[in-house]
Parts: sequence; structure tokens; C-alpha cells
Amino acid sequence: MTVLIDLIAGARPNFMKIASIIRSMESRKAQGGALRYRLVHTGQHYDARMSGDFFEQLGIPEPDINLAASSGTQAEQTAAIMTGYEALLLKQRSQLCLVVGDVTSTMACAIVAQKLHVPVAHVEGGIRSGDWSMPEEINRMVTDAITNWFFTTSEVANANLRRSGVAEDRIFFVGNTMIDTLLANLGRLRPPPFSDEMGLQPGGYFVITLHRPANVDASGPFAQMLEAIVAGTRGLPVIFPVHPRTAKTLQTLPGFPPSLHLVDPQPYLEFNWLVKHAKAVITDSGGITEEATVMGVPCLTLRDTTERPETIALGTNELIGTDPARLKPALDRLFAGQWKQGSIPEKWDGKTGERIVSALERLLPT
Ligand code: UD1
Repeated sequence: MTVLIDLIAGARPNFMKIASIIRSMESRKAQGGALRYRLVHTGQHYDARMSGDFFEQLGIPEPDINLAASSGTQAEQTAAIMTGYEALLLKQRSQLCLVVGDVTSTMACAIVAQKLHVPVAHVEGGIRSGDWSMPEEINRMVTDAITNWFFTTSEVANANLRRSGVAEDRIFFVGNTMIDTLLANLGRLRPPPFSDEMGLQPGGYFVITLHRPANVDASGPFAQMLEAIVAGTRGLPVIFPVHPRTAKTLQTLPGFPPSLHLVDPQPYLEFNWLVKHAKAVITDSGGITEEATVMGVPCLTLRDTTERPETIALGTNELIGTDPARLKPALDRLFAGQWKQGSIPEKWDGKTGERIVSALERLLPT
């Protein structure tokens, strides 16, 4: 007897997490394992540069189902994903809904599955920033309130779950699937075509990514932050792969200094090549702070909170906040060679997908 698991993927940061689980499931299947998957793409991210490129580079198979939910407000997106996924489960039930991360698709599918009595597993469960103004934090809290089994990245996440009353036998401390994918691809990273043209030198440029509504939706504060970045990076090239949400605000700004290079969202292998060789990365993403930690690259996070405190306690990341004035002193320390070295968190070792699949085989008897 086989067991059917829905793997839910919707937005860019989901794809690298799901890739490792798919690889581990395929490998167990080849050894006679009973788990099978149905890959459900919600369509939350739909541009080739936000979605298709990642499937291709990471060898993720074509989704079995695309719910084509695409854009809209938070509520519109949630509703479209829920309606689509409910119809799918009513047509053909699965035995488990596995969601990853903290995007709208994660929460929407977890709600639908649990209401239809399909158990939910949450990969990257238990992390919390405490900042309810971010949609991701709401998604984490709602998803974890109705998750059966938690696959966690850190002891901090385990402690958060225990504090909220989750029994020990529902928590599986397995490590980080995003890091599985990074470690599996380190040898394949490659420069983007523009790197030669710009003459990018190892340690001689910065990478920035900004897409959080709090940082990019209002043009005035966003422009001030960009000015602070350009001033603090002392004329070194600053490569800025622009997220579609950010592009909308950038269009309203009058012009940019020559050291700031706006480029399209980069595919996985090119983006991580850029990070690996950068002097530092300046970001408001969560996942990038983890990748920078593992690659030993200094990371400056332009947020006041993080749900990934181990990237600060152990890794190369530091919370700078959203006040542009705080950037220069941090960059001065970087240029003075005073940035911390960092170490790699426990179980971020490339084997997380295998641990998840082994646990699922025990939890879902045939
Ligand atoms: C989403 C996730 C965020 C993640 C980010 C990474 C939520 C709540 N947020 O935020 O956690 O870090 O993705 O990219 O789920 N758009 C396109 N093309 C696309 C995708 C989006 O043009 O392929 C446009 C949308 O139409 C929308 C904007 O970009 O106008 C924002 O997209 P959306 O998926 O709503 O949220 P993100 O800000 O990308």
C-alpha cells in the first residue's frame, strides 16, 4: 500500500525547501519506500523569475496541480488558494498535507486540509518573530495552531512550541531543508551574465534584497534607506535583484546613483553565487540570513525583529533595524574587518530531508 502526501509550494522561498524533501522521497521510493507525493503549486508566485527558474535549476518536477491563485490582496489570495485546494482534496484525498515556511499558501492549505480531517505537517514550524504587523507571522501562528507534526530548524523553535502546549512527540528537530538545497548546490553556483561586464571581484561588491511591505511600500523611507546603503558601501557596486513588489515603488523614484545596479530577480544558482562572493548582504529576507550564515558571509538585516535568532546568536547576521542612520556604523565595522565570524547551527548539515522522510515513514503506516 502506498501513502499519498500533498507537498504544497506557492512562493519563491518554498521551492528550495520542497526540493530537498522531493529528493529524499524519490530516493526512498527507489529503495521500495511506500510514500508517494502530489506536488501542488498554488500559483502564488507565477513569473518565470519567481517560480519556473527555480523548478528548472533545482530539478523539481512539474507540479501535478497548479491552483493558479496568482496575485491579489492577502484575503483574495488566501481565498483563491483555499477554494482551489479544497476542490482538489474533495476530488482526491491525500493522507497528509505537508506545508513549508510561512507564506500565504502555507496557511491557506493547512486550514483546508485540517478542516477536511487530513493531517498537517509543517516544515519550519515553531519559529516566531513576535511581530504581528508581518503577514508571515500571522501565517506561522495560524498554521502552527492546527499542525499535527512539526519539523523544526532550531531548539528555539522547539521551545516556542513547547511553551504553547505542543506535546514533545509532535516535535521533530530535523534541521533546515533550505540548507540541504544550498549544500547540494554549492558546487553548481555560477555567476550571472552581468558579473563580467561589471567586473565584480570577490569581496568587492554588496548584494541587497528588500521586499517587506514595511521597507518598500512607502517611497520616501525606501529612498532614504537606499541613500544610506549607497553612502555606507563607499562606492563599491551594490547589486539589487528587484522583487516585483519592490519594482512598483522603485518606478516612482526619480533616479539612482551609479553604484546601485538594479537587476531582475535572479535564479537560484546565480543569486547564491552573488551572495557567496559578496563583501556582505543587506536584506529584509529571513531565508537569506540562513544562507549567508552557512556561507559565512556577513549579513545586515533591515528589520527590528527576526524569527531566526540563531542566525544572530551563532551566524553572521545582525539586526540593524529600519532606521537608515543605524546602517553606517554597522558598515564601518564591516569595512574595519570587525564583523563576527559565525558558526553553523545544529543539524544544518544537508540531511534534513532524509530525517523528515524517515519520520514520515514512521508516522504514516501503510
Ligand atoms: C511573498 C511572501 C514572503 C516571501 C516573498 C518572497 C507571503 C505573505 N509573503 O511576499 O514571505 O518572502 O513572497 O518572494 O506569502 N508578483 C509578481 N510576480 C510573481 C509574484 C508576485 O509580479 O511571480 C507581484 C504580485 O502581483 C504582488 C507582489 O508581487 O503585487 C507581491 O507578491 P505576493 O506574493 O503578494 O507577496 P510577496 O511580497 O512576494
